[in-house]
Amino acid sequence: MREWTREERYRVLQDPEEIREIYDKIAGTKYRQIFHVQPVTGLSSDPNGFAKLGDTWHLFYQWCPWGAVHGLKYWYHVSSRDLVHWKNEGIGLKPDTFYDSHGVHSGSAFVKDGEMYIFYTGNHRDEEWIRTPYTCAAEMKDGKPVKLTEPLFGPMSGYTEHQRDPKLVWNEEKQKYYIFIGAQTAEKHGAVLVYVSDELLTGWTFAGELKIPGYEDFGGMWECPSVIRLSGKDVLIFSPQYTKLPGRAESTNHTVYIIGTMDYDTLTFTPETGYRYLDYGFDFYAAQAAGSNLDEDHAAVIAWIGLPDNHYPTAEIDWEGSMTIPRVLSLKDGRLIQEPVRKIAELREEEIPGDSSLPDACEILIRFGEEACDLSLFADLEGNGGLRITADPEKKVLTVDKSGMELSFNKEIGEVLEVPLDRELEDMRIFIDHCSAEIFINGGEQTFTAHVYPTDVEHNYRVNADAQVKIYTMKPAVTDDFVI
Ligand code: FRU
Repeated sequence: MREWTREERYRVLQDPEEIREIYDKIAGTKYRQIFHVQPVTGLSSDPNGFAKLGDTWHLFYQWCPWGAVHGLKYWYHVSSRDLVHWKNEGIGLKPDTFYDSHGVHSGSAFVKDGEMYIFYTGNHRDEEWIRTPYTCAAEMKDGKPVKLTEPLFGPMSGYTEHQRDPKLVWNEEKQKYYIFIGAQTAEKHGAVLVYVSDELLTGWTFAGELKIPGYEDFGGMWECPSVIRLSGKDVLIFSPQYTKLPGRAESTNHTVYIIGTMDYDTLTFTPETGYRYLDYGFDFYAAQAAGSNLDEDHAAVIAWIGLPDNHYPTAEIDWEGSMTIPRVLSLKDGRLIQEPVRKIAELREEEIPGDSSLPDACEILIRFGEEACDLSLFADLEGNGGLRITADPEKKVLTVDKSGMELSFNKEIGEVLEVPLDRELEDMRIFIDHCSAEIFINGGEQTFTAHVYPTDVEHNYRVNADAQVKIYTMKPAVTDDFVI
């Protein structure tokens, strides 16, 4: 893996032509995707500023132009009418002020009275490399974010430098706006800080630390908190890090949710369930719910296919990381159900005959019979190896093993993960797009997302005899043009 100096990682992009060569090198290569948002060059990580303004969805991603490395971050902007077809719009926010001199870090968007507002973390470092995070805002004007000149507020004392990722929430009952910030306490525990205001862009004051009984010592930092209201309940989604959690092998980066009740008077989130993983896969992080719900019972969410400490085979040619397919969240029986956005089905091109090999971009629908599930995707010409997915109906556990794939990566955090099932395995919907697989299990009761890099010979599949399988090739839905 290439070593990057600080200068290289924090190099400012002065002119788009400086990265054209990187774009030319990666465009059209083997693992570029056709229906996922992916970085135009370099690295994409967290989804940011996800909201619908008029009839257009806006989405940004954390972007480092130079290669597969976390350095000086920009917000790169994409847009869509249907959450399926995405268009490159160029840079949304660049690090060009004192407050965000060392990166425009993650944040959210909110739409009110036909205007879209953006909240983000300005990452400033001084000459001694001491970091000061600022909570900043921007307004969408003519389809592009325009920054406010001053931040809404600076860091809160008594916490470490890790304070970031503002998520704005309107509370109807209190008629107030709240900003939730991912943070780390002085004792190095993950936390959420809450700010309150009557106005969107002024008057912000610190309200306190969110109390979540039972979660006082749960990971060392919480990134990207998102709070949504679904079917009369509150759902807190966040990414705890610096801790290992059960069922996550050696990984120390996770994305979880808790269903409960949010009391804005006492700033207490009372859990009504234990935490669950939003996704059980190897590569899923920093999920963000859209700025407003689709309706009272449904919210759109999107996440990064990747993890903070991981790198992937395409790093060699200076790109990695993509966004998940947008998912629709709903609540059922005390848990979140996740379904791919419905219109994704419009990308189905043709159903392929049962004995064909796996296309690079496809949707697979499987209905399981009585037999134990034994499925291999990306097996070699002899039907061996690949991504092995097995489930023992008695144990109600699905096991996903990627150790049979020829290209291995991030081995040290584990190559086998288990997904606990609440009932027998009935169905799967799998989306494959060149270097990713997203698996929706039992109608979206569980999901499993992973990067996979099948080689030219790893294009076969095997499914146990009594399962019904349909495979559709998929049409392209994202532009991959050089728009900076
Ligand atoms: C999560 C994260 C955020 C931060 C951003 C910087 O992956 O670390 O907390 O704002 O990435 O790129």
